[in-house]
Amino acid sequence: MHELIIFGPPGVGKGTQSEMIARNLNLFHFSTGEFLRKEIEEGSDLGIEAKHTVEKGMLVPDEIMIGIVVKALRENLKDKNGFILDGFPRTNEQAKALDVIFNKMNLTEIKVLYLIVNEDELVSRLVKRGRVDDSEDIIRKRLKIYNDSTRPVLEYYQNEGKVVEIDGVGEIDEIYSKILNIL
Ligand code: AP5
Ligand code: MG
Repeated sequence: MHELIIFGPPGVGKGTQSEMIARNLNLFHFSTGEFLRKEIEEGSDLGIEAKHTVEKGMLVPDEIMIGIVVKALRENLKDKNGFILDGFPRTNEQAKALDVIFNKMNLTEIKVLYLIVNEDELVSRLVKRGRVDDSEDIIRKRLKIYNDSTRPVLEYYQNEGKVVEIDGVGEIDEIYSKILNIL
């Protein structure tokens, strides 16, 4: 059973690596960002509510995100060899709620894969990608929110000895091999 959280700033390669890992190891990949973008595209109540926040690069409220993740984990682990969470938790509140969920589900082997890439490289990758929230000013805002609200979550997991650091600069396949070796 793989119980994984992929962690790091916008553009570090969380989505890229998670997809490959999930396919190879038969894991449930849950990207909260992708989930929200799909809701926005479909125009659901949640999508309508979250659209402005996501497009401006701000965080959707914790209570909404926590509910989404609880439901996703409850409903999607059957026939899987575990899961990889991508984009969650992003605040200390989310991390605390996730601990409660993990305890209830008896998940005790959590690993946090922390990808490290310098800020110039992050901005250059995202500007090239061109998602709605990938304009340079919104990217800067997302990076600031990451530094202020999300980076502290890492310390929380570091204190528990759950973090594995991975250099995220280089060829996608090379980084992927490094992760598979760790797993
Ligand atoms: P989310 O979708 O999670 O965005 P993010 O964290 O900003 O991260 P990205 O998806 O931009 O980057 P990534 O690390 O996945 O990198 P990728 O693999 O795509 O969240 C979006 C929004 O949703 C948030 O701003 C917020 O509003 C909301 N939200 C989501 N979760 C939330 C939560 N928990 N609480 C509250 N709000 C939440 O790679 C980036 C680019 O680089 C790609 O083009 C890729 O091809 C390229 N690339 C990848 N690897 C490499 C490499 N090794 N070398 C060169 N290029 C590479
Ligand atoms: Mg992503």
